[in-house]
Order: sequence, then structure tokens, then C-alpha cells
Amino acid sequence: MSEIDAVLVIGARPQLIKSAPLIKEILSRHKWIRLRIVHSGQHYDPEMSKVFFRELEIPSPSVNLHAGSGSHAMQTATIMKRLEGPLLEANPDLVLVPGDTNTTLAASLTATKLHIPVAHIEAGLRSGDMTMPEEINRRLTDHCSTMLFAPTQTAMSNLRREGLGKIAHLTGDTMVDALETVLPIVRVRESAVLDRYGLQPQHYVLVTLHRPSNVDDLKKLREIQLSLKKVASRLRIVFPVHPRTRARLVKLGHLKTPRNSRITHASPKGYIETLCLLENAGCLLTDSGGMQKEAFMLHVPCVTLRSTTEWPETLARGANRLVTDPKRIPRAVLDAALDETVRKRIKRLRNPFGDGHASVRIVKIIKSNLGC
Ligand code: UD1
Repeated sequence: MSEIDAVLVIGARPQLIKSAPLIKEILSRHKWIRLRIVHSGQHYDPEMSKVFFRELEIPSPSVNLHAGSGSHAMQTATIMKRLEGPLLEANPDLVLVPGDTNTTLAASLTATKLHIPVAHIEAGLRSGDMTMPEEINRRLTDHCSTMLFAPTQTAMSNLRREGLGKIAHLTGDTMVDALETVLPIVRVRESAVLDRYGLQPQHYVLVTLHRPSNVDDLKKLREIQLSLKKVASRLRIVFPVHPRTRARLVKLGHLKTPRNSRITHASPKGYIETLCLLENAGCLLTDSGGMQKEAFMLHVPCVTLRSTTEWPETLARGANRLVTDPKRIPRAVLDAALDETVRKRIKRLRNPFGDGHASVRIVKIIKSNLGC
């Protein structure tokens, strides 16, 4: 079997989760792929990056580009400038890019300009909302890739509609692979995690918010906080706060919650602790893409503070509800959390995200496409 060189470019928290099962599959069973991992440095705080390397047993990257934060143009351009040299040096047969972050777009553009084939993991997602930076990133990445790995049938249909069907493959979602790998650990640790926060299963709401459309507008963020207070009069809230959101809440003076507050603002959590908190929550309130899906797979009702979702499958039978007006949060969250039948309905739904073997399929397709 002929060997190939591949470079995987990651850098933001969700990309680490999406890549971990593929990295494991390649390193443990496919020595013919010489894999190098490049970290863009988009996420640099230990709780946004290092903890995921440790928990998901991802080997240290061979290069860190330390691109850090900045405007979209600045961040994307910095990653591109700093990635070109390492790609020229590695001269790989393939560049692998997961997800839809600025790192994803920067890496796919840099590789394409160097005529290096690009494989996109989690291809074909569409929210239809071009004001979302991720929608721009995923569309452009798909259109300059040479191999597309779609997580769902819906994603495959989107790619076919855009004329990309010939290079698209339905693999399932690598986040299912990742979730299944850590679930046994989650089950062992969850009661200790709940004890630490003084929580009862299903008697609290987990909140994660970080989209610019929700947190950059201080007026909207103030309304969201007001709604969370209303929810907290009925159910405890645990809110691990993303650094972007933290900066805005500090400006509003909303992080100084009193000791006996029923809202716990916490630092961003690692993968396992997040899943412990999610699996036992009465409801998830989020604007994350990945967490809508994780809630669905763990049968937790979800309310998404957005007008669109790139995971329309999660909307089946009220498992996930889209809410745009922050004033509607209390009703939506309490209805979802306090109505036992929602959870039962979700349990009966088919999981459209795959069978936990997406990474195995991805490697097989790479092998046959590159003629190894
Ligand atoms: C990025 C992704 C988003 C993904 C999210 C997961 C893009 C366009 N967005 O959003 O798709 O859902 O990651 O978390 O790529 N910051 C820190 N420490 C860090 C990283 C960031 O303090 O380690 C702060 C900085 O002030 C920075 C802000 O967070 O300006 C936003 O970070 P950035 O990487 O630009 O985007 P995210 O909001 O994290």
C-alpha cells in the first residue's frame, strides 16, 4: 500500500471534538497515512483548547500558528499567511479541514491556492443565513474542496443541489463517534459533577451562548439575562460562559451574581464535564450548532436562540425549538424542561446523525480516492 502525507488543520474548540475520532482511527489503524496536526491558535485559552487535547487524547500538534483573535479578515488572513510555509514544507497529498470556523476557511483557501487537495469533514451544512460567519465559511470551503464528507442526508442533498454531488460522500457525523467514545466516562463522572454544583437531575437548565448575533448587542444580551432571571425563579441555571460572552457580561456588570443566586456563571467547561451537565439537564438553551445535536442524541429538550439552524433534523417533534425574541425564552425553556413528554418523544426519534463509524468511512474513502 502506498503511503500518503496528510495535514489536519484545527484551532477552535468544536474542531477538536470533530477531529479526535478521525485522528485516533488514522493513528491506530492506518499507518500508511503520515498525519501532521497543525493548530491555528484561533482558540488559545487552556479551557478552550488544551483540555480537549487531554480529554480526547489528541497528540500535540506539530505546529501552532498562534493566530489568536481579531476581526474575521485579520484572523483568516493571519492563519493563511502562517500556514503557507508549513504546507509548502510538508507538501502533503491532502489537507483535512473539519467544521466551519475561520480556521476551516483559512486552511482550505491556503491549500487550494497551493493546489493541494482539500477534504472537508462536516460538509454540506446550510443554515441559509449568510450573516453567520460560519455559513460563509462552510459554503466557501465546500466549493474549494476535492472531497466532501457529509454527516447527514440533508447535507448530501444540499451538496447535490449546489452541483457538488460527485465529490460528496455520506459518512455520518464524527461527533457521534466522539460522543460514543466518551459516554462511558460521562456516566461514571456525572453524579460527582452534579454534586459539585448542587444540582438535581432534570431540575436545572444548561445555558451556552456565544454567537455574535446574541452576545455582541448589549441591549439584546441584557434582555437575555433578564429572561434567564425569570427562568431561574423556577429552575436553577448553569451557564458556562464563553470568553466572548464573558467580556460582554463584564461590561454589563452581570457577572457579579450574589452568592445565593440561582444562576451559576462558570468558566468554559471541557468536553466530558459539558456532556455530564447536558445529559442531566431539564433543557438546554444554546446558540451552538454542535450542542443542539448533542442534546438531541442525549434526549434532552433544546431551545435554540437563533432564527435558523444548520441541523434541521433536530427540530423533529419539538426536540429543538428556534426562538429569536429573548422575551420568549422563559416560556419556551420552562415548557420544554417541565413537560416530561418532550423527553419521551425525543427518545422515540431515529438518530439521523450516523452510527458512530463516520471516521472509519472517511479513511476508506480517502484510501480509494487517492488510490492508496
Ligand atoms: C468560534 C467559531 C464558531 C464556534 C466557536 C466555538 C468562527 C467564525 N467562529 O467562535 O463557529 O462555534 O468558535 O467556541 O470561527 N477568546 C478568548 N480565548 C480564546 C479564544 C477566544 O478569550 O481562547 C475571545 C477573544 O476575545 C475573541 C473572542 O473570544 O475575540 C471570540 O473568539 P473567536 O475565535 O473569534 O470566535 P468564537 O466566538 O470563539
